[in-house]
Amino acid sequence: MCGIVGYVGSQPAAPIVIEGLQRLEYRGYDSAGLAVLGRSGIKVVRQVGRVRDLEAALPKRLAGTVGIGHTRWATHGVPAVRNAHPHASADGRVQVVHNGIIDNAAELRARLTAAGVDLASDTDTEVLAHLVARAAADSGAESLEDAVVSALGQVTGTYAVAVLSADHPDRIVVARNGSPLILGVGDREMFVASDASALVRHTSSVVHLDDGDLATVTATGYRTFTAAGERTDRPPVTVDLTVEELALGGHDHFMHKEIHEQPASVERMLTGRLDDRFGTARLDGLNLDPRELRGFRRVKILGCGSAYYVGELGAGLIEDLARVPASAEAASEFRYRNPVIEPDTLYVAVSQSGETADTLFAVREVKRKGGRVVGVVNVVGSSIARECDGGIYLHAGPEVAVASTKALTHMGVAFALLALALGRVHDLSHADGSRLVAGLRSLPGLIEKALADEESYAAAGRALAPAESLFFIGRVRGYPVAREGAQKFKEITYRHAEAYQSSELKHGPLALINPSMPTVAIVPDDDLVARNIGAVHEVAARGGHVVAVTHPDVDLGEVGEGGILTRVVAPKAEPELDPIILTIPLQLMAYHAAVALGEDVDRPRNLAKSVTVE
Ligand code: AGP
Repeated sequence: MCGIVGYVGSQPAAPIVIEGLQRLEYRGYDSAGLAVLGRSGIKVVRQVGRVRDLEAALPKRLAGTVGIGHTRWATHGVPAVRNAHPHASADGRVQVVHNGIIDNAAELRARLTAAGVDLASDTDTEVLAHLVARAAADSGAESLEDAVVSALGQVTGTYAVAVLSADHPDRIVVARNGSPLILGVGDREMFVASDASALVRHTSSVVHLDDGDLATVTATGYRTFTAAGERTDRPPVTVDLTVEELALGGHDHFMHKEIHEQPASVERMLTGRLDDRFGTARLDGLNLDPRELRGFRRVKILGCGSAYYVGELGAGLIEDLARVPASAEAASEFRYRNPVIEPDTLYVAVSQSGETADTLFAVREVKRKGGRVVGVVNVVGSSIARECDGGIYLHAGPEVAVASTKALTHMGVAFALLALALGRVHDLSHADGSRLVAGLRSLPGLIEKALADEESYAAAGRALAPAESLFFIGRVRGYPVAREGAQKFKEITYRHAEAYQSSELKHGPLALINPSMPTVAIVPDDDLVARNIGAVHEVAARGGHVVAVTHPDVDLGEVGEGGILTRVVAPKAEPELDPIILTIPLQLMAYHAAVALGEDVDRPRNLAKSVTVE
């Protein structure tokens, strides 16, 4: 959350910072600002709203070849100009942008106020600007680096910060602790960013900072060091990102583009991972040999939000195929409940961004207690990917829309691969393994087929759009599908969408069914089909409108007077893989409902793509 960009070189900094912020807007978009250092000193512009609003507010002449910028997702203080970053020292000579949370901000604010400092914002970040300036003035810090170290020594919390000082006009000093930050290496120019997408037009050579790192960035290069002043070695790596991947490519929204990328991206993800000879999956990145893989007596999957829901699907698949007890838990809860870490449990952290703070801290909790944790992660080189003992990269390509779609599909595929590999070192037969290999190989074609039916899903989504409140129901394999369907719907339509196990309906929620509360029912063609059809009729009999997401051969029957039944069909896959395909209609229903409601599909209110704060 919150995006940071910085530039130091020989080009005008403002357009580079603005372009970078636009690419990082998915991280937060309630206000934005920049500071540019030129011959006449530092100029700061801040604006509530989008980066385009900030761009419109820039003066015609904003010269300067050093700059920092920020797009905000509010934590301390409402979205307002006074709370937008950069935040300044009293004399304005120090400017700071920050991502993260300063935990002891209240105490530091009180201390600064008592010392006669007038605080200009409600934010935690502002204290950093004052602390840096005071360290430089009072404590004899000899360099900007020393002043930043001194300021950070007084704060507790998480941060990625970039600091600009009129007294050190050749540099930006940055630091990372718990919030992502990278450097970009150019030709006699350097960049700073929350992630590599901000730099895609400028460089593919990036330096990943670790927690505890500081860095000085000048036009001629960078130097990384610790708070104790020791040099660290952080060599640049090449990232594989193109401008085209980050463009809309003819779609109205990134969410739509990303839904439509799935056939090709899943195909790419499967390349080299299916082993026909042994009817299994090749997952070399796990860094686990067959004996180690077989040794795990339990699997625990940790993720947040939709990643957690796909984790539930993954746990079901692992139990089904490998007969190894498996469960999923919200990483945000796990990390706080002093969990028992077992040596023979395989922990799996699942995250699109690889930067979700709660999931990252869950990884650290497992590792701190000696557990083995692997990652199921999309962003290569992200914090979770780097801190895990191995993993499965999703290779979904960049996902820009805040509502995740293709990355979740890839997570489902990754868990199917993991379940297959685990199954085949246990008792899953060669024949079943080969059936699943063929089933996985057919997924891109099935997704393609589902996408060809977009208009029917769109019509169902538009019909649901006016409802204030909806149920999504499913059971066993269908329940994580229902949870994710409800999540997608609520994220972008702002409707109250709640998932229930269909088996639990009559234990309470049935009381809520009425003609104005529709139910989306997941009805796969599997051994529970009769029970799921029963649930559809229970709802319809109470005057409810049911949208059943089902398979071609399922006969739902007729509903009686008062009930309405809309049938939405998804292509049939192997039973274990059905949930992956059944999710596609739900993605498109949510998308088209949100479009019909005129909502900002890619930038839903109050949310951000990468939740790097706790
Ligand atoms: C998905 O649509 C959501 N925006 C959200 O629940 C997301 O899945 C969650 O925040 C986890 O993100 P991650 O996969 O980047 O860790």
